[in-house]
Amino acid sequence: MNDTPLLAVRGLTKRFGGLVAVKDIGFNVRPGEILGLIGPNGSGKSTVMKLIMGIERPNAGSVKVGGVEMAGWAPHRIARAGVGIVFQHSRPLHRQTVLEHIKLALLPDSLTKLVVDPDVNRRAREIAERVGLSAVMHRHPATLPFADLRRMEMAKAIARDPRVVLVDEPFAGLTATESTAFSDLIRGFRDEGRAVLLVDHNVKSLAALADRVLAMYLGEHVAEGTADEVMRNETVRRVYLGGKLEVRERAPASANDKPAILQVDGVGVQYDKARALDGVSLHVREGEFVSIVGLNGAGKTTLFNAISGLVPYEGSIRFGENKLEGMSGAAIARAGVVQCPETRELFSDMTVRENLDLGGYHLADNIRADQLAWLFDLFPILKSRQSQTAKTLSGGEQQMLAIGRALMMQPRLLILDEPTLGLAPVILEQLSKALEAMQKSTPITVLLGEQNVTFALPHADRVYVLEHARVIWEGSPSRFEREMGHGFLEAVPSGEPNALQARA
Ligand SMILES: Nc1ncnc2c1ncn2[C@@H]1O[C@H](COP(=O)(O)OP(=O)(O)OP(=O)(O)O)[C@@H](O)[C@H]1O
Ligand SMILES: [Mg+2]
Repeated sequence: MNDTPLLAVRGLTKRFGGLVAVKDIGFNVRPGEILGLIGPNGSGKSTVMKLIMGIERPNAGSVKVGGVEMAGWAPHRIARAGVGIVFQHSRPLHRQTVLEHIKLALLPDSLTKLVVDPDVNRRAREIAERVGLSAVMHRHPATLPFADLRRMEMAKAIARDPRVVLVDEPFAGLTATESTAFSDLIRGFRDEGRAVLLVDHNVKSLAALADRVLAMYLGEHVAEGTADEVMRNETVRRVYLGGKLEVRERAPASANDKPAILQVDGVGVQYDKARALDGVSLHVREGEFVSIVGLNGAGKTTLFNAISGLVPYEGSIRFGENKLEGMSGAAIARAGVVQCPETRELFSDMTVRENLDLGGYHLADNIRADQLAWLFDLFPILKSRQSQTAKTLSGGEQQMLAIGRALMMQPRLLILDEPTLGLAPVILEQLSKALEAMQKSTPITVLLGEQNVTFALPHADRVYVLEHARVIWEGSPSRFEREMGHGFLEAVPSGEPNALQARA
């Protein structure tokens, strides 16, 4: 490994109004080195990347790449000088195929972009192959599953051939197998001598990759060293890692005598050629907490969208007295079914407070105020960000706001689709406790979709496993651990390493 830093950051500082999002941050990354950057939601990690990339202008500090000062340059100049960023959320062009996206990235400055240059064609295909997209390279991004969209972002980054690569939350929403493939790609960057800055809340995957780790909190540097050293740091444990999720002893049969409030019978959904749900039947009793566990593409979101009236389906869904088939999404929501979607769907130009108030608009003033106070207790960061526009929130803060808005609606049935996406371990713990407290104090019924079993199991009264569009298993969380065994657990990533194994 070469000792001269390829990326050298000093005194980097960024203010947004009164908030100091990044304060005097400095570090080096050498060629062929991966520096992991961790910290709670809103601690400034993505902002550091945007400052390096020139997407945000620093208020102070220096960013040198190969000895050249670039702080304050425009992003396209920084990109041309060899810095690339892999964002978590891709915004693909809809008319271009996967291969064309890669070709465009290979020819960033060309005006004759999609000219048939055999060499470009060959290189684009090689890259598609390397990231595992060869089978879908002629498809349009809109038709691709989540992991393939992420692969395409990686492919574009590789095509631009940057010396410094910034990778923001590559593992969020990926299964363990997919995360392993992405880890290999990132390791490939290192082997090619690139300098890599890596942010992710999947502590296990990050620690396995990073040569060094830097931890931030409230915009400031709190610890730096090997992954082990940093994870053992007192402050990092307190503000970021938290403890382990506890399995709660639920009173047996606590809700078992209640009638089913949601009854799903023989539901099937067909998308073009793919069968997204096939003969799915399940029920949720009043006051029950039911987890649907399944990997990406298993059909969880489709099931929730069917319940919420957002996709056409065969079969029948009943909620309380209502037959939901044929009802509009709005009518289903009025009947008390509220879905907090994976995609968040916030009102991005409105403030945090406006989003929450919209959620609770139908409540009496005093009840809304109580609910809001309770929510701010649960997610203190939302309280301090009340007047901030939703679209400027950090990834994890947006997730908290989406969950918060759903809770403000005081639904009879709350559907949470992958709520753990992008949340710091310590926030998962808080959310976990909050869900538990909520179940004790309110008559709410919860249907949770998760691939993170360390989060999905501890709360659940019952668990369904969805695999390839079908329900393949149903039972209690304790039976899940015995019967679904470690095979399933290993196939599932978690922000909280080995919590389940440790208990088993
Ligand atoms: N344009 C902006 N205006 C106001 N505040 C902003 C703006 N952009 C970011 N912030 C705030 O700066 C803080 C740092 O945000 P950043 O996105 O860097 O966090 P992060 O560490 O990446 O968090 P996460 O893990 O949730 O992605 C957050 O509290 C965020 O709300
Ligand atoms: Mg971020």
